[in-house]
Amino acid sequence: MANLKERIDAVRKEFDEAARRAADAKSLEELRTAYLGRKRGHVTLLFEDLKSVPAEEKREAGRLVNELKQSVTVRLDAIEGQLSSVPPAVSAAGTDLTLPGRKRYVGRPHPLTLFEEEIERIFLGMGFSIEEGPEIETDYYNFEALNFPPHHPARDKWDTLFIKGDLLLRTHTSPVQVRVMERSKPPIRIICPGRVFRRETPDPTHLPMFMQVEGLVIDEGVTFAHLKGTLEYFLRALFGEKIKVRFRPSFFPFTEPSAEVDIECLVCSGKDPACRVCGGTGWKEILGSGMVDPQVLKNVNIDPEKYSGWAFGLGIDRTAMFAYGIPEMRYFYENDLRFLRQFGTK
Ligand code: DAH
Repeated sequence: MANLKERIDAVRKEFDEAARRAADAKSLEELRTAYLGRKRGHVTLLFEDLKSVPAEEKREAGRLVNELKQSVTVRLDAIEGQLSSVPPAVSAAGTDLTLPGRKRYVGRPHPLTLFEEEIERIFLGMGFSIEEGPEIETDYYNFEALNFPPHHPARDKWDTLFIKGDLLLRTHTSPVQVRVMERSKPPIRIICPGRVFRRETPDPTHLPMFMQVEGLVIDEGVTFAHLKGTLEYFLRALFGEKIKVRFRPSFFPFTEPSAEVDIECLVCSGKDPACRVCGGTGWKEILGSGMVDPQVLKNVNIDPEKYSGWAFGLGIDRTAMFAYGIPEMRYFYENDLRFLRQFGTK
């Protein structure tokens, strides 16, 4: 019996070592045969040895051998379970399944498109409709009809990219006002988003191409109170109830009186004297506005005695910078996917 016990321990020890080395289905199968094989398995042979154990010790000896068989079986099954949960490194077709996959990215709208849509949604909700105009304009629509006579010094404020003869790249979306007033009758309530172009040196808040959205309201009895109320409502809807807004007197040839609208600098909150966005003033101009000049109405055959209106032009890129907390306008156009992919996912 002492002899048998020693053999049992020896088999257990050998098995434990061999089990640690079983790394695939083939070696596992060999292990199973070596220990539990019907004829010459090490454990099976121990059962043979039981026959020569004296009768009074048989019970105990049988228990020990059975226990060993049990633990060997459990261990072999456990290894089999582990091996089958590790995916094979090579598929049946010979493809190396451990290589990293090729991730496909789903496209999404550009942040400026998302922001433009947000603006449109607010104005559509107030009963405005959306209009468009050409990016290549004539001097007449870009300047003259908007009450900039030829050689008027106010033209210098818009660093124009001229094409040829009468043609230029529109410097603002205001010419769309004229086109819409020419083709429709009051009441008019429209916005027109689009690209505009200026001879600018790029910096964090200026680019030679950027986006504006123009707004125009023409009806009987329209006053500056409508302008102020609508723009304040719009900016609150866009930036939240608490946004600080200020109206500053200004000049545009096509509006009288005119106002520029600033919002608090949402990049530095007025706390950084060296802020590259607001220059430390704590405010940033985002739109120009005013009451449509009677001369502009006359230019499109709308009677200024009967009708009045207000208009605005807002820089979309610049405003989006605040909405998203972006300190650099150039990011929008560099097409760096690491930047672009941060927008528009739910
Ligand atoms: N077009 C002007 C610009 O580009 C902005 C502007 C000012 C638009 C006053 C308007 C307005 O419609 O009424 O700077």
